[in-house]
Amino acid sequence: MYIVGFLGSPRTKGICSRLMQAALDGAQSNGATVKHFDLIKCNIQHCMGCCKCLFDDPARAIGRCPIKDDMGALLEEYSRADGYVFASPVYDGAVTALMKKYLERKIGLTHRSPDAPATIGAARVPAEFKKKGLLIVTGNCPDEYREVMGDPCFEQMGAHWMIEQVETVEQIYVGGTEVLSEADIENRRQKAFQAGIALVDAVNKET
Ligand SMILES: Cc1cc2nc3c(=O)[nH]c(=O)nc-3n(C[C@H](O)[C@H](O)[C@H](O)COP(=O)(O)O)c2cc1C
Repeated sequence: MYIVGFLGSPRTKGICSRLMQAALDGAQSNGATVKHFDLIKCNIQHCMGCCKCLFDDPARAIGRCPIKDDMGALLEEYSRADGYVFASPVYDGAVTALMKKYLERKIGLTHRSPDAPATIGAARVPAEFKKKGLLIVTGNCPDEYREVMGDPCFEQMGAHWMIEQVETVEQIYVGGTEVLSEADIENRRQKAFQAGIALVDAVNKET
């Protein structure tokens, strides 16, 4: 089993990163092969809105984008995986621009005919909910603000999964990042570790 994590924080040693790594460590402890992608280290250009990837031959598992950067290889890894961890800090009430840029460029996993305007695309390879995903959001606003700060981010990161037919198994919001003690962070890391274990269990249930 292969679980991949995509980190939307530019701080590769920050709290969000540590939580995502804890989830991947949990998944690995439960038998998965894991990989941690720091999106800040990847060459991901802005989507230019041509929709060529979206309209590309529906027989292709990944629609071809004319931009030649790291996104093609990231989508290959994504397609190979059985489960996902997406993690982003809240920036200005939403996911980071870095995570958003990655999400926009992921649209090549869906297909829509140019002859069917104003319709929603369909997954090129529907996962039939056998693939599972875990979402992690960190914010400086305390845990009570989960609904205001966390939910828009969960919705944004999980939106493609509805189309791709990936089941979200858990959404973890960790607030008050500026005041978390090392003990608090360790406690949250343990929760993320357990969520990583549960992610693998959920994938295993399907096979
Ligand atoms: C530009 C910027 C905007 C931010 N906006 C918010 C916000 O709207 N709500 C919030 O709760 N935290 C906000 N924060 C705090 C970050 O979410 C917090 O520092 C981050 O989750 C910590 O994770 P990290 O260690 O991975 O950076 C913001 C931080 C920055 C740098």
